[in-house]
Amino acid sequence: MRILGLQGSPRKKGNTRFLLDLFLEKAQEHGAHTRVVHVDERHILPCKEYTVCEKKGFCPIDDDMKKEIYALLREAEAVILATPIFFYNTTAQLKALIDRCQTLWARKYKLHLTDPGQKYRKGVLLALGATKGTNLFEGMKLTAKYFFDAIGADFSGSLTYPRIEHPGDMEKHPTVHEDVKTVVQSLVSDFAGRRRILFACRENACRSQMAAAFTQCHAGDKIAVISAGTRPAPAPDPMMIRAMQEKGIDMGFRKTRQLDDGIESLNPEVIVTMGCGEECPFLPGVMRQDWDLPDPVGQSLDVMREIRDKIEKRVISLIKEVSGGIL
Ligand SMILES: Cc1cc2nc3c(=O)[nH]c(=O)nc-3n(C[C@H](O)[C@H](O)[C@H](O)COP(=O)(O)O)c2cc1C
Repeated sequence: MRILGLQGSPRKKGNTRFLLDLFLEKAQEHGAHTRVVHVDERHILPCKEYTVCEKKGFCPIDDDMKKEIYALLREAEAVILATPIFFYNTTAQLKALIDRCQTLWARKYKLHLTDPGQKYRKGVLLALGATKGTNLFEGMKLTAKYFFDAIGADFSGSLTYPRIEHPGDMEKHPTVHEDVKTVVQSLVSDFAGRRRILFACRENACRSQMAAAFTQCHAGDKIAVISAGTRPAPAPDPMMIRAMQEKGIDMGFRKTRQLDDGIESLNPEVIVTMGCGEECPFLPGVMRQDWDLPDPVGQSLDVMREIRDKIEKRVISLIKEVSGGIL
C-alpha cells in the first residue's frame, strides 16, 4: 500500500510533523510504503487562474506540482492531509497545493476523465489548533472534503485535536497513540487481502501502463497493481494516453518505473510480461504469464486502439482467474 503524507506546517519540530510521523510509522508497521511532502520546503506557487487546466487539463505553472506532486497524488493509494489550523483553515503553503489541484478537478469535472485510482484511493485528515472553539475544524473539514473529491479520494476519516499550541503539545496528548492506531488499522484493513499483479514490458510506456490502468478500472480495491519496464522510457507514450482518453480513462501524470523498483514495492504474486522476454527476471514462487502482444510504440493510433482493446479483454479474464482463485 502506498501512502502519501502532505505535511502543511512550516515548523520543523512542530505538532503536525509529530502527528503525521506517528501515523506513517504505524502504517509502516502494517507494511505500507510511505512518502512525505513537507509542503513548506517545496516550490509551489499559488493558482493564477489561467484556466488552462479547464480547457487542456494541465497547469502551465512550472514548479514542484508539475515536476513531482501531481504524479505522487495519482500514484498514492491513500493521501494523509496533515495541517495546523491557521485562521480556521489550513496554512497558506498547503492551501497553495490544494488550489493547484484544480487541475485534477478540471480533468474530472470539465474534461470528464476518470482517474482509475479513484476506485480505491482514501483520504484522511489530521488537524490540530490552539483554541478549543467548537467550530475550530469545520472550515478545514470542508476544504478537505472538496480536496479529496478533486484528487479522487474517498474522505474516510479524520483526527482533530484542539488545545495544541506549543511544540511538544501533541506528543504529550494522552490518547494520540491509541487514536492513530485505530485510524491506521481501519485504513489498512480496507486494503488487506488484495492480490498483487505486476505488468511488465520493455519501456513501461504503453502496454504495461494500459494493463495496469484497466486492472484498476475493473478490479478497484480487490487487486494491487503496478506496471514497470526493463528499460523504462522517460515518460508514458502520448499516443497511449490519447487512446486511453478515448475510453474516458485518465492516464495523465503517470510515470514510468524500473522493473526492480516495481518488484520491490509490490512484492507481486503474479507477473504478466509483454515483450520484455528474458530481461524479466525469474522470481521463485511468483506466477508468470506472457502475453504475446506487439509493441505499439511508433505505430498508428489505430494499432494503439487495437492493442488497447486486446489488453482490456485479457485484463478482464485475468481478474476473473485471480479473484476466482485459479491463479
Ligand atoms: C498564523 C497563525 C494562525 C493561527 N490560527 C489559529 C486559529 O485560527 N485557531 C487556532 O486554534 N489556532 C491557530 N493557530 C495556532 C496553531 O494552530 C497551533 O499553534 C498549532 O499547534 C501549530 O501547529 P504546528 O506546531 O504543527 O505548526 C494559528 C497559528 C498561526 C501561526
